[in-house]
Amino acid sequence: MNNEIFEKAEKEIEIAQHGIKNISDNEKLEQWRIKYFGRKGLILSFTQKIGGLPEELRPLAGRKINEWKNYLNSLYENKKKEIISSSAIKETFHHGSMPLYTYPGKEPDYAYLHPLTIVTKNMVDIFKKMGFGIHTGPEIETDYYNFSALNTPENHPARDMWDTLYLDYHEKILLRTHTSPVQIRIMKKIKPPFRIIAVGKCFRRDAFDSSHSPVFHQMEGLMVGHGINFAHLKGILIYFLKELFDSEIKVRFLPAYFPFTEPSAEISISCVICKGKGCSTCGGSGWLEILGAGMVHPEVFGNISRKDPAYSPDKITGFAFGMGIERIAMLKYGIDDIRHFYNNDIRFISQFG
Ligand code: PHE
Repeated sequence: MNNEIFEKAEKEIEIAQHGIKNISDNEKLEQWRIKYFGRKGLILSFTQKIGGLPEELRPLAGRKINEWKNYLNSLYENKKKEIISSSAIKETFHHGSMPLYTYPGKEPDYAYLHPLTIVTKNMVDIFKKMGFGIHTGPEIETDYYNFSALNTPENHPARDMWDTLYLDYHEKILLRTHTSPVQIRIMKKIKPPFRIIAVGKCFRRDAFDSSHSPVFHQMEGLMVGHGINFAHLKGILIYFLKELFDSEIKVRFLPAYFPFTEPSAEISISCVICKGKGCSTCGGSGWLEILGAGMVHPEVFGNISRKDPAYSPDKITGFAFGMGIERIAMLKYGIDDIRHFYNNDIRFISQFG
């Protein structure tokens, strides 16, 4: 009678072992688990029977139960792993009941050029056509290159034009506020005559708003040689602006002040949005200010010529100009907020490439 109980249980274990073989999903596996491990399952119901066995059989029954439990448990764990790995394979090759190789294929996302990259390239290409060389300079500058060498000595009131971010005020190390220090670096490196442009990041202590950013980009130009005059400056800049925007635009030169150029000019184009009639972009004036420029100040040449007489202001003249790239890109593409450039929103970036 007692042996019968054991035999019956062993049979059930055999059935469990066969039964689990055909299981291929989690739902059936759970039913299987309940059948053997549940409240009314084999293991518990047999455990309950121990009390009714003669005393000498009880230790054996306990050992057997443990054996069966471990065995059934290992069957269960192995099956679970098998189901997980086979469903991963299914997801790789199937979508629902459809084999994935019948699907049309998933196109990858494209990479796009940033609008500032595109506009910078347009601008550089125009100057390249006119024989300008391309240069760069460091973003971390000294007070000397950013100001003093550009005829803006310490305590000069014109320093107020650039809210400066100092990295070390006492050591006079700062983030360049414009690309004009590249003028000095170039003149210390190469001899006139030459014409170059320089593009790069600039930094000012400005808070973000729709038209200001503490980091922005500028393009600088410098042409130095014998007999370079204001007409050259006008000719080159008018050609550049008409190529960049539209040959129909008008270009206006107004007197301005920069410590490193004399005379200096502020250059505007007729509004590209309203064609000069007056709108919110041009503040109703019909004009958009785009550039600062002028003839290189003799003091600037003087600083260089102390070491290199080729730059004596008696012998050579030159002109320089500088412009903000963000502003130009905003006008070219009708972008109303400078912050769009830096948010890395693919919906914005992907509109220009
Ligand atoms: N560096 C000037 C600025 O950032 C622009 C400029 C460059 C003006 C060269 C004249 C000549 O405001």
